[in-house]
Order: sequence, then C-alpha cells, then structure tokens
Amino acid sequence: MKDEQLKQEVKEFWNKNVCGTFLSNKEKFTIEYFEEIEKKRYEIHPEVFSFAQFTRFYGKKILEVGVGAGTDFIQWVRAGCKAYGIDFAPEAIEHLRRRLELYGLKAEEVKVADAENLDYPDNFFDLVYSFGVIHHTPNTIKALEEIIRVLKPGGLAKIMIYNRRSLLAFFFWIKYALLKFKPWKSISWVLWNHMESKGTKAYTIKEIKSVLSNYYQIENLKIGTIYTYYDKLQRFNWVMRKIASVITSLIGRERIGWFLTIEFNKKSNN
Ligand SMILES: C[S@@+](CC[C@H](N)C(=O)[O-])C[C@H]1O[C@@H](n2cnc3c(N)ncnc32)[C@H](O)[C@@H]1O
Repeated sequence: MKDEQLKQEVKEFWNKNVCGTFLSNKEKFTIEYFEEIEKKRYEIHPEVFSFAQFTRFYGKKILEVGVGAGTDFIQWVRAGCKAYGIDFAPEAIEHLRRRLELYGLKAEEVKVADAENLDYPDNFFDLVYSFGVIHHTPNTIKALEEIIRVLKPGGLAKIMIYNRRSLLAFFFWIKYALLKFKPWKSISWVLWNHMESKGTKAYTIKEIKSVLSNYYQIENLKIGTIYTYYDKLQRFNWVMRKIASVITSLIGRERIGWFLTIEFNKKSNN
C-alpha cells in the first residue's frame, strides 16, 4: 500500500474515532462530555503530567502535533502558553475548537494540518510536544524531521511513541499471532495490523538512539519508558493479566512500559 493511501486510511480512522472520546458517552460537545474525557484521561494516564510539565512553559510558544480531542492541549493553554495545535483529522480539530470555546480559552492557532509537512517557519517554537502520534503516520522520520526543523535553537522536543520491547506488544503478539496459529508473524506485523489505525509502528530504545544519531542538531537526548495502564493488560482476560503481573514482578516495570518517551534540545547557535 502506498504511503498516501495508508495516510488517508489512518486519517479516516482517527476522524471516526477521535482519540480519547471513547471515554465518555455523554452528549457530544457538552461540558459534561469534555469533563468526563479529561477526568478519565488523567485517571488512566497520570504520567502525562510529569512528562509534559505543562506549567513550566508559561509564556512559551509551543506546538502540539496530533492533538486528538485536545485534552493535553487545553492544559498548555491553561498554563499560559502561546499554544499552537494541529491534527490531520478534521473531527479532532472540531473537538478542540468547541472545547476551547466552551471553556473560554484562547489558543494562538488550531488547525487541520499534516505532521509530515508543517507550514511553520524554521526555528519557531520553544517546545514541540507530540504524544502518541508520529508512530501512526506513514513517514515517521519525516514527522520527526519537521519537529526538529520548527524548534528554535535551544528549544525542547517531548515525544511519546510506542515501545516494541514492551509487555503489551508481546501480549498483542500472543493474542494476534500465537493464538491465531501464526507464530511466525512478527510483533511489528501484529501492531501494524491490530493496534489502533492501520500501519501503527513501535520502536526500541536502540532504534531511536540510532535514528537520532543522524541529526547533528540534537543534544541532551533522554529516552525512557513509562509503565502504563495498558501494560497491566486491563483489556485482556484474567489469565493473561496474571501472567503479565508475574512477568512484571520478575523483570521489573522500568524496561517494559508501552510508552517510549523521547526528549531532546535543538542545539543553540552559540
Ligand atoms: C493516538 S491519537 C493521540 C492524540 C493525543 N495526542 C492524545 O494523546 O490523546 C493519534 C492522533 O494523531 C493524529 N495523527 C496521526 N498522524 C498524523 C499526521 N500525519 N498529521 C497530523 N495528525 C496525525 C491522529 O489524527 C490522532 O488524532
């Protein structure tokens, strides 16, 4: 399948399933709907706060790539950032616009746009934040290069992508390869075909280090993993959950988290 065709499929998926909206069945676009999405997102993902550190960026120009329903984005605005947000799913942007309006919040700019072709100038943002997004787009490297390009010298990138060496990825393989009598299928194949939108990728820490070593503009690289709600296999049966909890207690949570976090600065000019 060609990249453009895949991208269209990914866009349609997220347009139909705006990220995070499954958390509420209240009437769409009401305050109750948005309140419930926000409450549940941070119950499930309290780790977002320590990763994003919204309040440290007061007055800074920030870009969020792939806003989804905009729950994190409104935290940037509430924290007093000059916030710009993009997503290529029009329905996601509609959610965010309605949300800002409902809460009387003002962002600098919110628009439908492609992470692989940002129409912002070079060296424009103090922070670029992208949580769970660029592994879905066909050309992840292009999206990464765009993040680096639009960052100011000295600016910071905070990116979360999926970790292939995680407990969740392994159990996805058990469910969609081993138990389907296709043990020769790889974890990458399983994630591509069964994790959210078609074409989802996941990376190892080693792969990310190797990719980023090609970019001379980067410094202060920090890569980590976060053990999440998903790694407890909440949506699997009790047998799988039990096995997962035994594995976790044997090898520890540090290395097997589903979220792989990447932070780096763009080198200053001086
Ligand atoms: C898993 S959701 C994450 C949304 C949000 N960051 C969150 O944490 O809830 C992935 C989002 O990335 C967006 N996305 C994927 N590829 C994109 C691209 N090339 N350009 C812009 N948005 C993209 C999708 O439309 C979707 O809203």
